[in-house]
Amino acid sequence: MSTPTFTIFGGTGDLTFRKLLPALYNMHTAKDSADDRQIIIIGRRDYSTEEYCGKARDWVKKFSRLPYTDEDFEKFSAQISYYKMDFIDSNAYSSLNLYYKERDLNDHIFYFAVAPRFFSIIASGLTNVKNACHGKVILEKPFGEDLDSAKVLNIQLEKFFSAKNIFRIDHYLGKEMIRNIQTLRFSNPIFSNLWNSRYIESIQISASEDMGIEGRGGYYDASGALKDMVQNHLFQILSIVAMEWPEKFSADAMHDAQIRVLRALRPVADIRETLVLGQYEGYHQEQLVKPHSSTETYAALRLFVDNERWWGTPFYIRTGKKLDRREIKIAIIFRPSFLEKAAQNILIIKIQPSEGVYLQFNIKKPGDTDEIIQAKMDFCQNDYVNKLNTPEAYERLIKACINDNTSWFSQWDQIELSWNFIDKLHELYIWEKLPIFKYAAGTTGPEQANELLRGFGHEWID
Ligand code: BG6
Repeated sequence: MSTPTFTIFGGTGDLTFRKLLPALYNMHTAKDSADDRQIIIIGRRDYSTEEYCGKARDWVKKFSRLPYTDEDFEKFSAQISYYKMDFIDSNAYSSLNLYYKERDLNDHIFYFAVAPRFFSIIASGLTNVKNACHGKVILEKPFGEDLDSAKVLNIQLEKFFSAKNIFRIDHYLGKEMIRNIQTLRFSNPIFSNLWNSRYIESIQISASEDMGIEGRGGYYDASGALKDMVQNHLFQILSIVAMEWPEKFSADAMHDAQIRVLRALRPVADIRETLVLGQYEGYHQEQLVKPHSSTETYAALRLFVDNERWWGTPFYIRTGKKLDRREIKIAIIFRPSFLEKAAQNILIIKIQPSEGVYLQFNIKKPGDTDEIIQAKMDFCQNDYVNKLNTPEAYERLIKACINDNTSWFSQWDQIELSWNFIDKLHELYIWEKLPIFKYAAGTTGPEQANELLRGFGHEWID
């Protein structure tokens, strides 16, 4: 079988430049991708392949994990061809078919790096391309725009591609420390034995970004933080953190364990005690954002997993743009000690930008005193050598797709359950006419998100 051609729809978009090209460059340079691979970049703009590669070079220089060298880039870019095409024009696909035919490219991996509303348009266009239906397709999240559109999309895609060849990407599943959660939890009895509501008071999952929407208004304004981050990335983390021991550590067993968490999410009784939405000041001035848009750029949630393990332990989730920092972390806050002066033990899994584990515990203050102070153990694993050795999320996932490994991709039932939950939450918020709270850029988000926790005696860990 020949090396599959890698075709990217949305080849001039932010995702391709920032993530996909650097990932493909790293794979090529690290000899993780076949030398004879063809990379076809599809975009509407009028570039020659040479012009496109000039742009690609700048992005690879800026974002690739492995050091950029002219020599490596020349070899890599020799695989790239730019193909100008309007992918919403159904007539354009017969020419694409011809283009592949002339080059004898019959084996395909398609990457849909476009907004979800274009997925089915491209899939139906590809019916005009010989052998496309035997290929693989990688789809960016969010998969659909809500539950109903996701269902329709799934049916359409499964009509065309075989289910085993549909790879729904969630790049958080490729992040090193997200993969590490299970090892940290299950291979250390000091954590696994305490991993339940008897010992854990609350769990916080935070994904803060200091960037705004960076010219992605067209997509983002129709999406918002709940659909862009919570429904997919943060629900994946939630279900990995909260899952039961899987029967074995196989992809299917892990997946079943994650699904059981999503099924156990407690239906929302009081939306005011569950969700706070915010929008940064100045959002309306962003390109392609509607003048009075009520799209949220911040979301904070208080959720419960109703099963024996987690009865009574809240899961707090927050994410937002234009905040005071770029950071993803999971904080596990243990129940207080019976010694009044002792602080609560806190375990933090640091996912980004630094990767590592932080543990806070109590010790006696040195000297002639009984005073209790907190010791802070901070393990950091992303030093320079590790960074060079550890593939980034997109590299891992593209490689996994090439190798037919579906373990770290979102499965349809996960997507269905999480859409169902998020849609209901959003509807309730709108139904109750709750405001979208403003927050200043460079802060931790709206004050109401702090009040959400304070009302229950908790605080965000910063
Ligand atoms: C994407 C979202 O899926 O994840 C973006 O669409 C967000 O809005 C990005 O900025 C964050 O990814 P990372 O890897 O930088 O945390």
